[in-house]
Amino acid sequence: MFKVNDNYLKLPGSYLFSTVARKDREFRAAHPDKKVIKLSIGDVTQPLAPAIIDSLHKAVDEMSKAETFKGYAPDLGYEFLRNAIVENDYKSREVDVSADEIFVSDGAKSDSANIQEIFALDNKIAVCDPVYPVYVDSNVMAGRTGTYDKETGLWSDVIYMPCLEANGFAPELPKETPDIIYLCFPNNPTGATIKKSMLQDWVDYANRVGAVIIYDAAYEAYISEADVPHTIYECEGARTCAIELKSFSKNAGFTGTRLGYTVVPKDLKAADGTALNPLWARRHGTKFNGAPYIVQRAGEAVYSDAGKAETKAQIAYYMNNAKVIYEGLKDAGYSVSGGVNAPYIWLKTPDHMSSWDFFDYLLEKANVVGTPGSGFGPSGEGYFRLTAFGTYENTVEAIDRIKKM
Ligand code: MLT
Repeated sequence: MFKVNDNYLKLPGSYLFSTVARKDREFRAAHPDKKVIKLSIGDVTQPLAPAIIDSLHKAVDEMSKAETFKGYAPDLGYEFLRNAIVENDYKSREVDVSADEIFVSDGAKSDSANIQEIFALDNKIAVCDPVYPVYVDSNVMAGRTGTYDKETGLWSDVIYMPCLEANGFAPELPKETPDIIYLCFPNNPTGATIKKSMLQDWVDYANRVGAVIIYDAAYEAYISEADVPHTIYECEGARTCAIELKSFSKNAGFTGTRLGYTVVPKDLKAADGTALNPLWARRHGTKFNGAPYIVQRAGEAVYSDAGKAETKAQIAYYMNNAKVIYEGLKDAGYSVSGGVNAPYIWLKTPDHMSSWDFFDYLLEKANVVGTPGSGFGPSGEGYFRLTAFGTYENTVEAIDRIKKM
């Protein structure tokens, strides 16, 4: 008789965004007359930019002719895309990353969940608290997190780095030494970020203790302040301790189109000298058959002059929404942060309400759906996340409604 991977049975509840989506659906079904505004999951609302659509059309036409048709994509991704990534995301910042260190994928979510596979099960992970749930859940599924304490919401074998108002929502170096450190800046869910000198401290620490940093830079395009690093490889020594995850979802609207990439430097080696780049290449080759050609062509178009200008305008559009939310909530007396280098606004729930109580309250009173902070970890309790990825009109209306609650 077969047995299941019982690590899955340890997972408490369902995936955060599935729970939020279910509650949203149930409310809409019960109140068909209400116009519900969704500012919960970080899903874009602006259509793909014209330069990207143009490139998609051309690539689709290529697929219709025998001479230009493409079958399986190369394991690591097409060179035209990997070269565009190197030129635009790294060389332009005088950062040393080469095309054979880039692995094109169907998005940063999958990579952030899969990357743990190349590490030993007895490695200890450190995560920010609150945190993007995929990092923890994927390690639970692998059996790396120990047991779950329902009371505290903590896993016994995970090192938590609380990100609170008192530390500016920036993690401090952990007391216990981890093997794998997950960092995400600009941060999901708090919208906070750290300066380059602070990230350098993390890189120095990881090199000192022999840890690897999984650096999720999915929201890099939203950085507006100087001295905030756009890639961890801006820090000296990052090539020997860091893997970087990047996404086309947030900077170019590919949430439904799916494209991302992971950088695994060739200098990154485990204590016994095993290089991670060939391991990830082996994993990629065995378990992944490449992002679709047409999508990779669309990704290349993000780096064209028109693509850059058009996606920049979209980011400005969302960041204007972020400002509307931030300032509107501040006016209404909320304690808010984020929204300056990230499309997420992190607010304190009023009157010490729990995050889920505030979720229900907001849905009932303002018909606005957000994401409860406690869904991202115990230190998110009493907080709530709103996304700037809605339309401008809906964002303005949502904030007006919240002000009137
Ligand atoms: C979020 O809302 O946190 C993100 O959209 C989820 C994701 O990118 O997978």
